[in-house]
Order: sequence, then C-alpha cells, then structure tokens
Amino acid sequence: MSSGPLNLFPEMLRDSARMVQRTRESRLSRRRMGEGVEALSLSDRRALLEEFHPDHRLDGRGVLQVGPSKGASLPFELVELLQSWPRPLVMDLYGACRESGSLTAGMTTDVLVIGGGGAGTAAAIVAAEAGARVLVATKLRLGDSNTVMAEGGMQVADHECDSPAQHYLDVMGGGHFTSDPDLVEALVTEGPGVLRWMEELGMLFDKYPTGRMKVRHGGGTSRKRLHAAGDVTGLEMMRVLKDRMECLDRIQVIPFAPAVELLTDENGRAVGAILEQLPGGKPLIVAAKAVVLATGGFGRLHLNGFPTSNHHGAMADGLVLAYRAGVPLRDLNHCQYHPTGVVFPEKLNGLLLTEKFRGLGAQLLNRHGDEFVFSLEPRDVTTAAIIRECSEFGNGAKAPGGGVGVWLDIPMIDQIHGLGTIEREFPGRFKEYLRMGLDIRQVPLLAYPTLHYQNGGVVIQPNGGTDMPGLFAAGEVTGGVHGRNRLMGNALLEILVFGRRAGASAVAFAKGVKQAQEPGLGHLEAYLEQLESAGMQPGRSSPRLLPAYGSVRPI
Ligand code: FUM
Repeated sequence: MSSGPLNLFPEMLRDSARMVQRTRESRLSRRRMGEGVEALSLSDRRALLEEFHPDHRLDGRGVLQVGPSKGASLPFELVELLQSWPRPLVMDLYGACRESGSLTAGMTTDVLVIGGGGAGTAAAIVAAEAGARVLVATKLRLGDSNTVMAEGGMQVADHECDSPAQHYLDVMGGGHFTSDPDLVEALVTEGPGVLRWMEELGMLFDKYPTGRMKVRHGGGTSRKRLHAAGDVTGLEMMRVLKDRMECLDRIQVIPFAPAVELLTDENGRAVGAILEQLPGGKPLIVAAKAVVLATGGFGRLHLNGFPTSNHHGAMADGLVLAYRAGVPLRDLNHCQYHPTGVVFPEKLNGLLLTEKFRGLGAQLLNRHGDEFVFSLEPRDVTTAAIIRECSEFGNGAKAPGGGVGVWLDIPMIDQIHGLGTIEREFPGRFKEYLRMGLDIRQVPLLAYPTLHYQNGGVVIQPNGGTDMPGLFAAGEVTGGVHGRNRLMGNALLEILVFGRRAGASAVAFAKGVKQAQEPGLGHLEAYLEQLESAGMQPGRSSPRLLPAYGSVRPI
C-alpha cells in the first residue's frame, strides 16, 4: 500500500505508521496459521499488573479518615471529595433544618431516581410500569451519561455454545475472583431476559440476514457473547429506553438538577434528596418514599493524571451522597483504564477506540510495527502491557503534543473479514475520523490507556438495596459486580439488570411506606462531627458536579 493515506499524520508519526503497514502482511499470515503473541500465564499477568498497572501505584493514594469505610486506601482525589463539606446550599438548609426539625418539600413522589443514564432510566421504567409515580432528576439532560458513550456492546450468554455458567466464570476470573458471587449470578442469569426486553423495546442489534444475532469476542472472555449495535451500542440502547420512558406518563424528568445531598428521616431512612437547579443553584427539595441512586462513575476526576473516555458529568457525585449518609464503599482503589484511548488527533485525547476493534482482529503494535501483547487479554493486563511497552521499553510512538502511544492496526479488520467490514461494523468511528481526514480502513490509530470505568462503588445487595433503608443503587456507582476488573460489555448488561432490580425493589419498598416522612438532614450531624474530629477544616465542598477545566470555574 502507498503511504498516501499516512500523509495526514505529522512527520514524527509517519515513519512509525509506515512500519505498521510494512509488517501487516506477515502478521496476517502468522494469524492465519494460528501464530502470534499468546495470552500470558496467570503468574505473568500478576507480575505485569503489579509492576505497571496504575492501581498499584501508591503515590496517588490517601487514607479515608471518616465514615463507614474509614481506613480504606483510595485515590486521593476521591478521598478529598469524601472528606469535604456539603455544598453551601446544603449547609444553609442544614442550618434551617436544625432550627425547624425538618424541611418543606417542593415536590413529592413515590420513587426518586437520581441519574438519567441507562441504569436510572431502566429503574424508572420498571418502577412506573409497576404503578409508582416516578421522578427522574438528572444533572444535565436525560441520557447525558456514560451509557451513550458505550461503543462495543453488551455481553449476554444466549448462544448454544455458551451458558450463563460460562459467563459467570469469565466475570469471576476477569475480576480476579473479587466480585460478589450473588451479584454476578444475577448479572449472568438475567442476561438473556434483558436482551429480549431490549429487542422488544426496539433496540437494533447487529444481526445476520437470517435474523440471528451477531456475537463477538471481548477481552478475557471464553466465548463470543458481545452483542452490539455497530459501534454506537450505548447510544442505541439509550434511544429505546428514552422512547419507552416517554410513553409512561407516571414519569417526570427534571433536567439540569443534580442531587447534592440525600434527605433522611428520624429513623435513618432515605426519604428524598436536595436538588441544585442549574444554572443559578436554586434548591429543590424532593420528598420520596424510596430513592434509586444511579449517578454513574468518576472518570472526570482524571485519577493519576490520566485522560478519560467518560462523560463530563462523571464526577463521583453518588459516592459522595451515599457515603455521607453512611453507606459503605468497596473496591474503589481499583479503577479501569481502557487500553485504547485516543492519543492522536489530540483533540480527541482519551476518547474511546472500542475493544470491538480488537474483537474483530485489530492488533496492538509498538512503534516498530511489532505485536507485543495478545490483544484480547483482560483489560487491566492489556493496559499494563501498553504502559510497560511505552515507559519501560521505550517502544511507544510519540505524538506532536507530547503524548505517546501504541498502534491499533484497524485496517487488518477488512483484510480478515472482507472489504466493507470496518465501515459496516464501526459506522460511528469511521465517519468521525474521516471528517478529520483519517480513513481508518487504511491507517492505524495511536492509542494509550484512558480512565474508563469505576470498578468499585456503593455496596449493594442483589436486589439493589444498600445498607440504608429506602436507598437503592444501580450501575457504575455501585461496586461488587465486577470486583477489581470489569470485562468489556458487562457494564451495559449491569445497568439493565440492576437498574431493573433497583426499580422493582424501590417500588416494593415504597408500597410499604404508609405516610411520607419528614425529610431532614440528620445524617449530616454525625458526618460533620467526624470531619471535625479528624481535623478537617471547612473550605472544600462536594459533590463538585462538573470538572473545572482551564478557566472554567467549578459551578
Ligand atoms: O471498548 C469498548 O467498547 C468498551 C466497552 C465497555 O467498556 O464495556
């Protein structure tokens, strides 16, 4: 192939990209013979992770000094948020509440769902279908979430050669046997049912002309069970969830209204939340019989200085709210760095190059065009191998903006599966890069790990319940399903399985609440006392809601 398509790369990348082209034919023929870099042994994986995965860096950690998970060693950005004071608006209401004993609600509902992504909408739909009045409070607009950014697919064991038991083993192994087995059992056994549910709602999955679902491999999985809608799977999922919500008039959505504190009653139950309406910050007090927390993850905290593939709202709000109310957290010292975030073009820094590229055969190559890792290792292992290749071995290719990365050889896919595959399977990325002059049918892309997913979170039971009566949680804000490492495609499954479970449990709980309780902020008293006795001074407040990039002030 001529180097024409590579001309859009800056000169410092062009030579290296040419090496990728030069080695492609021999790599393809090795692949046809079943040769190439093999998967690592368990002990080699462990050694690689310990030396190179960012989770094992101790310099970015702090020890939590207050709350139910006191003593946990967590990323210091998170420690700082958890040890901050409530936002000023909440402190004002706290003062008022201490005088009058409770707060006056501006709105009441049966179930308050906090978060308008996949888990929140799934919970709201199930709750409304069960007859509850539901209010969905979302920080930005309905659907603005990590769900819509999910590209590669959803794992479900629905083919003959697969089974939920096989899926279970993959999840447990991928998470280094640290997942909660009951949560994993719920995840995998309900997979086929939620797949049918999504189809019935109208989700367009990739299929063969016969109508059979296409399934692909994800990293660390023993079977092909990844169901996708091109490379816009989360967007397509959100489309049908939103459509279904619009048909249910028992659901009301309040956009631009992030929850900034939970409300509790005198028995320590969750009875609503304070919303901070944007812009301007006017409070809205919502009293509810049950609350579902579905606020998503924390990628925008940029842990260890990494870029992120996450939505702008991914700021750990739900962790702060739940923790201050006394709900324990788990596994938050293990974060997911997706192996392939964009390095070049720099304006897309950190955004996702889906694992589906590797699922269809694209290899990871160093600057010499050599394969250095089996491309479908579990995510954390691939990430550690890329970091080692660039930092220890100096084999990364350097981009003009100072970034370094390895090549994802996307053009291999058309060579393996036939011309037209890239355009058909990756319509989103294909068009996105073509607009920038990069034809991914012809050029590889430069990638480096990017902060992608919060593996841990709020401790939940299989029904979505938390340690706090009346508070349910689902999706990325929770911990336990994936243990210390999530495999690709299990997040889209999790938000549906546990979103639905949390919605159903919240309705059941709400039905048992005879009369609305007085909403208050009693839980803050104990938390503020702990902050003070740990020597924390007021000054910083949380949740922070949105990242403060450049000159943009935090709101
Ligand atoms: O690579 C991806 O498409 C990401 C999928 C996931 O995180 O599940």
